[in-house]
Amino acid sequence: MDHNKLALPVGTTLDRFIMRKQEDFPYATGELSQLLRDIALAAKIVNREINRSGLIDIAGAYGNRNVQGEEQQKLDVIANIRFIRALRNGGEVCTIISEEDEEMIQTGNCQGKYVVAIDPLDGSSNIDVNVSIGTIFSIYRRISATGCEGTLEDCLQTGTHQVAAGYVIYGSSTMLVYTTGNGVNGFTYEPSLGEFFLSHPQITTPKSGAIYSVNEGSSEHFSEGMTAYIAYCKQNNYSARYIGSLVADFHRNLLKGGIYIYPATKKAPQGKLRLMYECNALAFIVEQAGGKSSNGRTRTMEQEPVGLHDRSPLFIGSTELVNKAEEFMAKEHAPEATTA
Ligand code: AHG
Ligand code: MN
Ligand code: MN
Repeated sequence: MDHNKLALPVGTTLDRFIMRKQEDFPYATGELSQLLRDIALAAKIVNREINRSGLIDIAGAYGNRNVQGEEQQKLDVIANIRFIRALRNGGEVCTIISEEDEEMIQTGNCQGKYVVAIDPLDGSSNIDVNVSIGTIFSIYRRISATGCEGTLEDCLQTGTHQVAAGYVIYGSSTMLVYTTGNGVNGFTYEPSLGEFFLSHPQITTPKSGAIYSVNEGSSEHFSEGMTAYIAYCKQNNYSARYIGSLVADFHRNLLKGGIYIYPATKKAPQGKLRLMYECNALAFIVEQAGGKSSNGRTRTMEQEPVGLHDRSPLFIGSTELVNKAEEFMAKEHAPEATTA
């Protein structure tokens, strides 16, 4: 009997993959690798909490509002604590900014070279109903010298300065997808082994697609360009798919091709999503996978942040679809053609 058939290889673990990647850079010190491992550890813990949330009393509202004025769920708070604790213990991060905290969080690790921006739990409205939710993170190298606390300037860098970004999707299986600027790789969690394994090497997103993801319940408040673009999607028989968890909608479209839009509306002129915690990370990933991200006009990663909790419209996904949506948005600002 061929013993290879009896014991199939289990594949490449995330830890080994990170280690191998580090070996590609002779001067790498391993700090970024350690940071990614810390995030993966917190993701495993949060995954455990989410999986049993229906059985213990950690689903539902926490009874507080966050800086965005949104009702915090217990799991928002738990995930925030878990990620902050893992990053503080890891020692590589001087400062964290989180969707759930108004101010910068100083970890006390003044020698840490990195700053992390995080949406610890994305898709809060789906927690109680067993629908996919996620975590989104961006990693920046600090600008200020080590030896003291990170500064606001360290935190308010444009997305083009990200050194790594990723997300975790807690779905029908749990996955961690990340980039360090050299392609995108996806890892699936094997709960019985407690490890993430490389399952989606070098993800590339289709150039085109036929899925559009937008909350059409708000269409009364859409601009002319948006309204016209949605009509175009329908005329072209696109499928509407909208989970209401950005990570899950993004992940599906990344693999299948499509566009996700959270536009500016009359009620929310900057849209709802947060530039530092949500848009930039996914923009980095989609570009690394061959796709595109903008606010309808400007490349997401080139938008200058002014405040930690800035919002931005988001048009993200397959390049051809984002280009087409931008055409519609450009027309709405173009002056009316005059006839002689
Ligand atoms: P969060 O749970 O981190 O606050 O993010 C929720 C976001 C995003 O995940 C989702 O795509 C969007 O809110 C849904 O908003 P609408 O309900 O307005 O469509
Ligand atoms: Mn979110
Ligand atoms: Mn969130």
